[in-house]
Amino acid sequence: MASLTHRPRRLRRHPASRDMMRETFLSPAHLIYPMFVVEDEARRIPVASMPGVDQVSIDEAVKDAKRAYELGLGGVILFGIPDHKDPAGHDAYDPNGVVQRAIRAIKAEVPELYLIADLCLCEFTDHGHCGIVHPVDTVDNDATLKLLGRIAVTYAQAGIDMVAPSGMMDGMVEAIRHALDSAEHESIPIMAYSVKYASAFYGPFRDAADNAPSFGDRRAYQMDPANRQEALRELELDLEQGADVVMVKPGLPYLDIIRDVRERTHLPVAAYNVSGEYAMIKAAVHNGWLEEERTVLEMLTSFRRAGANMILTYHALDAAQWLRAAG
Ligand code: PBG
Ligand code: ZN
Repeated sequence: MASLTHRPRRLRRHPASRDMMRETFLSPAHLIYPMFVVEDEARRIPVASMPGVDQVSIDEAVKDAKRAYELGLGGVILFGIPDHKDPAGHDAYDPNGVVQRAIRAIKAEVPELYLIADLCLCEFTDHGHCGIVHPVDTVDNDATLKLLGRIAVTYAQAGIDMVAPSGMMDGMVEAIRHALDSAEHESIPIMAYSVKYASAFYGPFRDAADNAPSFGDRRAYQMDPANRQEALRELELDLEQGADVVMVKPGLPYLDIIRDVRERTHLPVAAYNVSGEYAMIKAAVHNGWLEEERTVLEMLTSFRRAGANMILTYHALDAAQWLRAAG
């Protein structure tokens, strides 16, 4: 068929041509590594459903943070798992709580690393919900907002670079912005988990962060996976409230939503490649069914192609290493 006019394959023949035609780039600077910090010292507790991910004590977290910095990651995001939990999640806003101490320790040892803290109550409450439960089996939105503001200020005082509220409370961005500004922390940005679905893909995380709800589920505050218009509404509200970065979560089953959000805001967009997405790949790799490096880099590239500026992923350290080795 010598008479074909269009032959896209012409540009794919030479490696240099393929490189020149590449539209999407992925680098370690786009990646954010989530870390689970526990009390005590010299502890590294593997998370069974997330091979390669550990809960780490603060001294070990400092080591992982150093590695993240050396590999050129965009940053790390901290999740704290306190020994003590109660109905109001008191440890979350204790200036000497596990997250606040981890922030100080990491900032002291690796000051250049960009440090983000997840901001939610579910790791700190004994019932495991993302807010105060009041009266019966309902998460009290507005009572929770006050606590989120308090937590944010203690993180800022400890030296955090950015806070990331994940609880899907109405008005959380505004409440946190107001609390930070009133405490003269107006330069701390907020990365809002703006579009967060009630997803089965969070399963392994609940082992890692010990935050499974003791009753009910999170469908009264997280979004229905079937909804797209509602995602845009949540986005609009967080834009109005002064979010600095907006996030879509989970990632892989919601690439369409990442694209929608990208097209409707000029803010940076983050995507969370969640625990269940990580577990799926690890399980398939373990069985010899998928090749890890190629699969992970292809998946992370798809987030970038969909429009994400940054990606929160448990693959961050491995991926950064592969990307650096590839030059
Ligand atoms: C809790 C929180 C969750 C994740 C991040 N923050 C889980 C949940 O909402 O139950 C999920 C992350 C993951 O699955 O990797 N606010
Ligand atoms: Zn939560």
